[in-house]
Amino acid sequence: MADHSMSEPNRRDFLFLATGAAGAVAGAAAVWPLISQMLPDASTIAAGAPVEVDLAPIGEGKAITLKWRGKPIFVRHRTKAEIEAAKKDDPEIKIDPEPDAKRVKAFEGKAQEQWIVVYGNCTHLGCVPTGFAGDYNGWYCPCHGSHYDSAGRIRKGPAPKNLFIPDYAFQSATKIKIG
Ligand code: FES
Repeated sequence: MADHSMSEPNRRDFLFLATGAAGAVAGAAAVWPLISQMLPDASTIAAGAPVEVDLAPIGEGKAITLKWRGKPIFVRHRTKAEIEAAKKDDPEIKIDPEPDAKRVKAFEGKAQEQWIVVYGNCTHLGCVPTGFAGDYNGWYCPCHGSHYDSAGRIRKGPAPKNLFIPDYAFQSATKIKIG
């Protein structure tokens, strides 16, 4: 008898657990659509959702390359000497004339001229130029010899345009949002 009285609760425990497990599965199924709605869908990823870039780790005189919408983007922290040299050269820009001031963006009304953000594709045939190289120590494209300055302006070689500037804005003094 004792065995029988023990087996009943065990059986009920099993049924309870089985019910609980089914409940957990149903719960997970209900949660999943919520999570999947919060993630960008495939077409959003392909189109390239905006990205935030923390500038704080990029020291003066350094640059990073990130990939966005399948293209490289250079983010460069210019030194005071580089900024001065680029500004001084404004009248010398012949291929695609653009003052240095047009190559930077402002935050709270102040030009953030130490930051240059450009697409990392040469405007000639799209090669990825090398940073801190060439006659102007900006970027040098080894494919056919295009020299860009620290503002990404084409100074010498076959490239017809300055490095393109992506759509971006400062979120704070140390953060930008691209896209
Ligand atoms: S692709 Fe850069 S110089 Fe031709």
